[in-house]
Amino acid sequence: MQSSCAEIQAKVTDRVLEITINRPERKNALTMAMYTAMAELLNEAAESAEIRVAIISGAGGAFTSGNDLLDFLGGSASSADSPVFQFMLALYNFPKPVVAAVNGPAVGIGTTMLLHCDMAFAGSDALFQMPFVNLGLVPEYASSFFLPRIAGHVKAAELLLLGKKFDADEAVEIGICNAAVPADQTLARARAVASELAAKAPEAVRLAKQLLRKGTRQVGMEVIKEEAQYFQQRLSSEEFKEAATAFMEKRPADFPRFE
Ligand code: COA
Repeated sequence: MQSSCAEIQAKVTDRVLEITINRPERKNALTMAMYTAMAELLNEAAESAEIRVAIISGAGGAFTSGNDLLDFLGGSASSADSPVFQFMLALYNFPKPVVAAVNGPAVGIGTTMLLHCDMAFAGSDALFQMPFVNLGLVPEYASSFFLPRIAGHVKAAELLLLGKKFDADEAVEIGICNAAVPADQTLARARAVASELAAKAPEAVRLAKQLLRKGTRQVGMEVIKEEAQYFQQRLSSEEFKEAATAFMEKRPADFPRFE
């Protein structure tokens, strides 16, 4: 299986597809080409009789710092036909188990994509954050729906309104990761679980995943679309431009000047 982008690596070993985000100099921030490559790989793996499980991890001590902010400022966005949306759909609809191995920063979609994986392991160096509001944006990938269901409203508000950072232990407590593991064992743990899953009866696994997701599937999709409309609008807001420019200029955003 071949990736269309050098910064997304794909490897198949014993029926397990490993997708590695590999842009360490930008903490694995995701560009449109990277989203496209991940969507293509997942869509191909969904159809492949050989692949039973997918692993998503990041190279160089980061999972992903989320959307590339320069890409966003340049106008690339999350409209229905955008690469971001295509990736979201491919993962949301992926019929086989997905296991995430999280080391280092897992920011924005780096955290929200975990809501759509089936199992996730967090290294002791993992750092999660959903800083959408801090950036003048809104929650995405149905995090506004799934997070309150998993963690309760007040916790979801803390993480989505304040954009608070949290560590591996808290990710486990909230229920978005299965276990916190020593940083150098994260991928090994994900691989061990993936190979356990790959050895099981494949149709039973697929049906079980389908049943686990059934109750939230339709409403989750509606929320993804609704959030994406707001997100798209917010990308051209002055609030977002100020926040993204402030990040690049390494200074705090000047929000008090907005009404
Ligand atoms: N988009 C574009 N560039 C990014 C980026 C992103 N999402 N995240 C990090 N980078 C760049 C930094 O600007 C920096 O570039 P420089 O070397 O030219 O200064 C480089 O990657 C390394 O990042 P740095 O901030 O120095 O690493 P860190 O370990 O101190 O912090 C993060 C890591 C991920 C916590 C921090 O970079 C961050 O908060 N990034 C922004 C995350 C974000 O807001 N994502 C969008 C969510 S919608």
